Amino acid sequence: MDEKMIQRMITAAIEARRNAYAPYSHYLVGASVLTEDGRIFSGCNVENASYGATNCAERTVIFKAVSEGVRRIRALCVTGGNEKYADEVPDEATPCGICRQVIREFADPADCPIIIAKSLTDYRITDLETLLPESFGPENLS
Ligand code: THU
Repeated sequence: MDEKMIQRMITAAIEARRNAYAPYSHYLVGASVLTEDGRIFSGCNVENASYGATNCAERTVIFKAVSEGVRRIRALCVTGGNEKYADEVPDEATPCGICRQVIREFADPADCPIIIAKSLTDYRITDLETLLPESFGPENLS
């Protein structure tokens, strides 16, 4: 991934985080995905008074993209932190276990960079294979 695309994805995640609905945890998360055809989608966490109905930012953005016809995700970016922090957060937000499995459904585990961003300039890149080793995916059912 080139630096310009990384910056675009982080920007999209930071902007989406501003829309996070997190009145219970006060932890705001934004995520973005890059699709096969070069489009960027973004999404935020959406909490619920019945806590278990909460949707993480990663699943929000993936469901948004898939519902628009996307089937392959080339990269994902996430940024998250307490609401007291605006566009720069002090700690890394890494995808939860459920979100890792949902990413797996639409990404190649060997070729899906995951950008964990604290700000536009402070980020690291890992990948799906590292986050979800020896995973189970669609090919296992074919
Ligand atoms: N959350 C995300 O949106 N993504 C993550 O990677 C970690 C957790 C959300 C769920 C909940 O709204 C809040 O952060 C605290 O768990």
